[in-house]
Amino acid sequence: MTDLNPDVAQRRLSADQVEAFYHDEFVSDQVADFTALMPAGRPGGVVADVGGGCGFFARALSDAEGHRTRVIDMDPGSVKAARSLGVDAVIGDALGPEFKGDECIACFNLILHHLVGADESKTRALQVKALAAWRDQADAVFVNEYIYESFVGTVSGRIIYEITVNPVLSFIGRQAARVVPALKANTFGVGVRFRSHDEWLKLFGEAGWRATAVRLGKPEPIAKPLRGMLIKVIRRDSFRLEPVAGVP
Ligand SMILES: C[S@@+](CC[C@H](N)C(=O)[O-])C[C@H]1O[C@@H](n2cnc3c(N)ncnc32)[C@H](O)[C@@H]1O
Repeated sequence: MTDLNPDVAQRRLSADQVEAFYHDEFVSDQVADFTALMPAGRPGGVVADVGGGCGFFARALSDAEGHRTRVIDMDPGSVKAARSLGVDAVIGDALGPEFKGDECIACFNLILHHLVGADESKTRALQVKALAAWRDQADAVFVNEYIYESFVGTVSGRIIYEITVNPVLSFIGRQAARVVPALKANTFGVGVRFRSHDEWLKLFGEAGWRATAVRLGKPEPIAKPLRGMLIKVIRRDSFRLEPVAGVP
């Protein structure tokens, strides 16, 4: 059973590193998946976009579906940008969100893999904690996440984590990326934890949620140098999560 109170902080990206995510590249896929997967929600209920960044998804979802939305993000620059789009946005921590009481659906778009702790078990605990935090508030959760499938077991996500979290390996990675751009990762020195489809499903279960509907993303190109990490498939999948009955 994962410890939901890991006594470690998240290894957070710097403001400069977060700025690399100030784009709307994945929003149309995320909105299409949300629209296909998610129930209508409570009338007047708010769709909370946890780690919602500059509010591109929240804006697009409100425009397309008329949903009330709210971004919760720890990065002040992102929250300011979201507000400039007319999106309700608050500075907040995915690991201890403050509810206003009107949230009915929580979204985790490409944030879970950034909830990284000092080691593998603390990282898992942080990811579980962020999802479990919504058990008493949201009727359902929408997750859009990177999927890394491996040629051998589930090693690829773990290898990437070990490289990006380790200062020496990250230094080597940064130097290598100068000559091989495919190795570029703005998470060097902080860490990132991707998982396989089945690993995410298991983690959702530990947080008291189960996937009741899923959309698989299209396989993305894998640059040759990355094959050394035994990566078989990279995708972005979406999940509708509903509470597991009987889990406190
Ligand atoms: C990769 S970006 C994803 C942005 C957007 N959701 C998307 O799909 O393009 C990750 C976002 O999560 C935010 N974030 C990371 N850790 C967080 C935390 N503990 N609490 C709130 N936001 C967090 C970052 O500031 C950043 O905006």
